[in-house]
Amino acid sequence: MNISSDESLARPSVVIGGGSGIGLTVVSKAVEHSKSVSVMDLHAQRPASLSPFPDVEYVQADVLDLEALSAGFAALAERGPIANVFVSAGITLPAPIDQVDPSDAQRCLMINLMGSINTIKAVLPHLANDASIVLAASAAAYTGGGYVGGSIYGASKAGVIGLTRGTARELAGRGIRVNCVAPGATSTGMVGDDPAIVARLTEGTLLKRLATPDDIANGVAFLWSSAASYMTGATLDINGGSHLG
Ligand SMILES: NC(=O)c1ccc[n+]([C@@H]2O[C@H](COP(=O)([O-])OP(=O)(O)OC[C@H]3O[C@@H](n4cnc5c(N)ncnc54)[C@H](O)[C@@H]3O)[C@@H](O)[C@H]2O)c1
Repeated sequence: MNISSDESLARPSVVIGGGSGIGLTVVSKAVEHSKSVSVMDLHAQRPASLSPFPDVEYVQADVLDLEALSAGFAALAERGPIANVFVSAGITLPAPIDQVDPSDAQRCLMINLMGSINTIKAVLPHLANDASIVLAASAAAYTGGGYVGGSIYGASKAGVIGLTRGTARELAGRGIRVNCVAPGATSTGMVGDDPAIVARLTEGTLLKRLATPDDIANGVAFLWSSAASYMTGATLDINGGSHLG
């Protein structure tokens, strides 16, 4: 199976939180295969990061705003049913439980978990019947976080894994597959470039390097492709072995 020529990847694709980091890298891969790639993100203006991709449609939507998401997907689906979805939108929260501000904890849980719930609810009426949804979990779901995300972040991502499994069960009747990627520490703005933190995170992997956004985007492309047509409810670990401790 040659993923690069896979017809599933040529279908309409939407990346939520595609304005930066892993989502942006998924966009850069998707446009190699599909003429219909769209991005939803928080920013009122189309982010400059999308300049290399003039054909990518941009829609502003906060994943906490179900109405905005629904209107956005309805507009995008005028080009045809949506086949591939990646929910990259998320935030981290390093604060440990004894120091965390409850409103920060709630915001992290809401964006990371409720945001995925809202996105799936909003996109459902506009999905092709054999669509592929990929959510962003994290190795922090297993490890309980560490230097970048703390226990609340880990809990939000454990929730994403549960949501993946439950929605895979509920949507299989329409042929819709739902999977998630669980990245380890990945070189994006979320991790930052503090040398001490990068060194500790690197040391925690078996392969002795952080993930690149490309490593994670390859996993998303695989889960969108027909090579993964018998996968649903799965968590794809892409973490250089960091989950093995
Ligand atoms: N970078 C890592 O080490 C790492 C590891 C594991 C999991 N993840 C997960 O992967 C996903 C992408 O992470 P990243 O490193 O690319 O982060 P990033 O900060 O570079 O990108 C996140 C994107 O989500 C968007 N976003 C944030 N809140 C939003 C909201 N309320 N509504 C809509 N969009 C919103 C941001 O504007 C941004 O474009 C996140 O869910 C993150 O938790 C990242």
